[in-house]
Amino acid sequence: MVAAASTEGSPLRILGVSKSFPAPGNDAIHNLALDATTLSMTAGELVSVIGPSGCGKSTLLRLIAGLDFPDSGELWVGDDPITGPSAERGLVFQDPNLFPWLTVSRNIQAGLVARGLLQKKRPEVGEFMRLVGLEAFANAYPHHLSGGMAQRVALARALINHPKVLLLDEPLGALDAFTRMRMQDEVLRLWQARRTTMLLVTHDIDEAIYMGDRIVIMTPHPGRIERTIAVTLDRPRQRNSQAFLRLRGEILELLHLAGSAGRNPVGGMSSHIRQDEDTSGIKPDMPGTSQPEISPPASVVSGVAEP
Ligand SMILES: Nc1ncnc2c1ncn2[C@@H]1O[C@H](COP(=O)(O)OP(=O)(O)OP(=O)(O)O)[C@@H](O)[C@H]1O
Ligand SMILES: [Mg+2]
Repeated sequence: MVAAASTEGSPLRILGVSKSFPAPGNDAIHNLALDATTLSMTAGELVSVIGPSGCGKSTLLRLIAGLDFPDSGELWVGDDPITGPSAERGLVFQDPNLFPWLTVSRNIQAGLVARGLLQKKRPEVGEFMRLVGLEAFANAYPHHLSGGMAQRVALARALINHPKVLLLDEPLGALDAFTRMRMQDEVLRLWQARRTTMLLVTHDIDEAIYMGDRIVIMTPHPGRIERTIAVTLDRPRQRNSQAFLRLRGEILELLHLAGSAGRNPVGGMSSHIRQDEDTSGIKPDMPGTSQPEISPPASVVSGVAEP
């Protein structure tokens, strides 16, 4: 069944992961794209990742996808170390990357064909097309689809593999504002149906708040997680509620400071934001566990200010 009520996702642990790349035009120099980065996600959690361009967001997702390898540190899905790509870790990009010569139905089943599972799983193709509301477009080609529809095909193509972790790298970044808001609800609906563990990279602060159980704020040079904010606003969230707007203001303040030259990126943390103990369950002696976790103001955490 497509509409599974139980959690399909697995816990994800990123432990002290570093990754460097040669500087452009000078192989002797290495830039630290990710510096001793640690993040733990519970099964079925949805975490938003925001941060300026070049702070290592895509690098982090590529490492989790197994498309690249860390210089040091470990990545785990459940009890399994990540050693390479796997269908159990789906990746959706800003560009849906559909095969233009295949219909919607065949695009969705492409991964099953590649893994020799189509015969066994064929009934699920129709179920997943229904799940993303595209059953009427089964025989349409990608050039017949709007941007939002194409992205729904990409999501169905990833979800049909029943991923334990779904990695979303600015998946809605190319959509107009109205389609984007509708698609945010669509992604949330899919997440609630599947309870897949989801890591969503976005440049849109509202999207990060609207979607995430937590928001990870990254900063560049070197790329690292500066803050993790718990968002405990009730779902469905109200984009114009006092609590939502207050949290938005706090994050804008943090990111503004992150862009100030020569200053501690988030050193001037708002007095409204409380710095907590790291509650991620990571052992204190593990590398990179010093990244603090912060919580938004009490009214945001409790959601009592919701109109
Ligand atoms: N394959 C690569 N070779 C060399 N440098 C790389 C490579 N991939 C990433 N980098 C560098 O690592 C840093 C982080 O890149 P990354 O793509 O992860 O940033 P990002 O946060 O996803 O940025 P954006 O928001 O623009 O997508 C950048 O300085 C980038 O130039
Ligand atoms: Mg990127």
